[in-house]
Amino acid sequence: MTILEMQNKILELKKEKDICILAHSYQRREIIEIADFTGDSYALAKKAAAVDNKTVIMCGVRFMAETVKILSPEKTVILSNSSAGCPMAEQMDKELIEQLTEMNKGYKVVAYINTTSELKTVCDVCVTSSSAGKIISAMPENDIIFIPDINLGTYIKNKLPEKNIMLVSGGCPTHAKIGLNDVKKAKSLHPNALLLVHPECIPAVQQEADYIGSTSGIMDYAKNSDAKEFIIGTENSITEHLEYECPDKKFYPLSKDMVCHNMKITTLRDVLECCEGCGGEEITLPEDIRIKAKRCIDKMIEYGG
Ligand code: 13P
Ligand code: SF4
Repeated sequence: MTILEMQNKILELKKEKDICILAHSYQRREIIEIADFTGDSYALAKKAAAVDNKTVIMCGVRFMAETVKILSPEKTVILSNSSAGCPMAEQMDKELIEQLTEMNKGYKVVAYINTTSELKTVCDVCVTSSSAGKIISAMPENDIIFIPDINLGTYIKNKLPEKNIMLVSGGCPTHAKIGLNDVKKAKSLHPNALLLVHPECIPAVQQEADYIGSTSGIMDYAKNSDAKEFIIGTENSITEHLEYECPDKKFYPLSKDMVCHNMKITTLRDVLECCEGCGGEEITLPEDIRIKAKRCIDKMIEYGG
């Protein structure tokens, strides 16, 4: 089957079986093209609560599919490729957070949404890269333990000096491995380009940026800017999507190494097999975990609007 034939079959099956396909912006181009909704993790979480299809196929990583299930337990939720995890989401365990809260009474635990459902059960509020500043600033409490991304945490801490934010070491291997050498190299090759980076990059890289934001934030900034050239400091699919969407502008990856293998593991054939009912993994969660994990996602939506 060609890519086009697979895409047409998916579109047909989606209609016939009342399936909604959600795709994170890091997915491959051919998947983005057949998705009902694409965006950053905050937009996907909000969409997850709003769609009314019987089945949702999440093209992204496991915590994103779990978020859909947490918010919509009555739906059949399929993770398009069962091997797609997020290494950052699995970096911390529940016991560590319980110890930290025991040692720091009165602190609220704010968790990046890139966490497992089990970890969310012991957190107070979830945030995403696009909503963290707004949500933490709206929280009445000032003493906060932020997990698991130290780079996003540092970015928020600098933005909100009025809050007492304690950071715990963790991060995204795809973003955190990019250093100042990569920035110097990219800027010397493209001296007229603006540098747009994700807050999961290390602070030294963030300091060199013209804009820091989520995957959707970076895409919107590039689309709306009058500038013509951009160095993109996040997973390389964003560079590729922008090339398609803004053919009159030039986009360069900050590093060719910025590839999240977990996000790239899903193929169009995986999505087709999910639609045919013979692929992916149906997400199930014990009801007690789902209910406890939902509290911090509900708080995220309440504070984030
Ligand atoms: P966004 O919140 O920007 O979509 O990021 C999700 C993610 O996994 C970034 O690495
Ligand atoms: Fe996780 Fe990083 Fe991949 Fe995002 S890019 S899914 S944070 S490993």
